[in-house]
Amino acid sequence: MPVTDFTVAEKYKYQNGFGSYFETEAVEGALPIGANNPQKPPYGLYNEKLSGTAFTAPRAENQQSWLQRILPASAHAPFEPREANTFDTNPGVHNREKWHQIPNQLRWDPFDMDETVDWVHSLHLVAGAGDPTMKTGLGIFIFAAGKDMDPREAFYSADGDFLIVPQHGVLDIQTELGKILVRPNEICVIPRGIRYRVNLPEGPVRGYILELYQGHFELPGLGPIGSNGLANARDFQAPVAYFDEDTENEYTLLAKFSGHLFAAKQNHTPFDVVAWHGNYYPYKYDLGRFNTIGSISYDHPDPSIFTVLTAQSDHEGTAIADFVIFPPRWLVAEGTFRPPWYHRNTMSEFMGLIGGQYDAKTGGGFQPAGASLHNVMSAHGPDASTHDKASNADLKPAKVGEGSMAFMFESCLMVGVTEWGLKKCAKVQDDYNAESWEPLKPHFKRPSPAQIPHGSKKQ
Ligand SMILES: [Fe+2]
Repeated sequence: MPVTDFTVAEKYKYQNGFGSYFETEAVEGALPIGANNPQKPPYGLYNEKLSGTAFTAPRAENQQSWLQRILPASAHAPFEPREANTFDTNPGVHNREKWHQIPNQLRWDPFDMDETVDWVHSLHLVAGAGDPTMKTGLGIFIFAAGKDMDPREAFYSADGDFLIVPQHGVLDIQTELGKILVRPNEICVIPRGIRYRVNLPEGPVRGYILELYQGHFELPGLGPIGSNGLANARDFQAPVAYFDEDTENEYTLLAKFSGHLFAAKQNHTPFDVVAWHGNYYPYKYDLGRFNTIGSISYDHPDPSIFTVLTAQSDHEGTAIADFVIFPPRWLVAEGTFRPPWYHRNTMSEFMGLIGGQYDAKTGGGFQPAGASLHNVMSAHGPDASTHDKASNADLKPAKVGEGSMAFMFESCLMVGVTEWGLKKCAKVQDDYNAESWEPLKPHFKRPSPAQIPHGSKKQ
């Protein structure tokens, strides 16, 4: 069945479609017809526009939504810096810590759970490139939290779009535009600026986030594949309007702004959007619905066939960020070394594992909740044990990745690692290369008699 068998049941309603123009009302008649800013909006609501692109962005790229809400988002006291000495998620900007740009292959043991913090304080920048103040690049976070956000808090990031990949636990996310439940094997995208709070109904959570500082995610072009396949547009789910009404109590609005945390007070709930329409909204996707495509003759295609979402640079076909998955699938290629080939890539590849065992790494060092980074031109490929098995395997049709879901954040940028990612987290495996590739044995045999027209030298 092309859906994930979740242990926690769905509890919300959604609208289906990627990049669709939706409209949704929690109170019938709350959306004005035709006009976006009528003098007297229905039910005494305020009109508010939320832009995800420049007003003048080309129509095909333009993203915006109109919100009908009880009080405008601007009705709050000034922001003040908060936790300025502890909350820092863009070291390249603030220079208190520096990026480590290193060519080594890196692999991390599973990151620790942390039951003492909520969503906002669970964010650890592990790697990244670029600068949110210039709207360039990306940040890669590990999150681990054990506490609900305060019921009277909301959070947003002005720095970019969050692509959230839960590995453990369940995220119950109340956004301005409605509620979303996100479970392991689902992903969620919360675009820049959208306010939300996160509850943890099943206890502690852990996972990965890619924050995209520039542009927005889109579905990859399918070319000769045709009009269906990979992640299908109909399987993306956006919330329906849901609102709270509270103009009595004090709320705290938290903002991640250039990697720093700011807080502002307001005397009304931020979750008061009664209706909205537009194409700028949070959404989720069940990775179990991915229509996986692969070779049915020979050779191993490029991993771009596994792209769920992409965010392109200014150069078409070259991504600032690709989100790629390695789902359960059949391998049937004939006469073929079936794991991924050995390679060096002009792109950087950050991998994580949601569950199970990744089929290209069977040595045991790549664990759920762990990670690896193969940076620009850092050589990698199957570890020695995988190579040995795959070189001698009986090439029958074989199902791989059963019960597993590995993923990759791939970027054209050289990714730096933070001090936390390299040292403080204390999860980097010193023996990654020694365990994976140094044990590879030469199998070369000179032909006899030697036929080497351009000569060679044996040491
Ligand atoms: Fe790779």
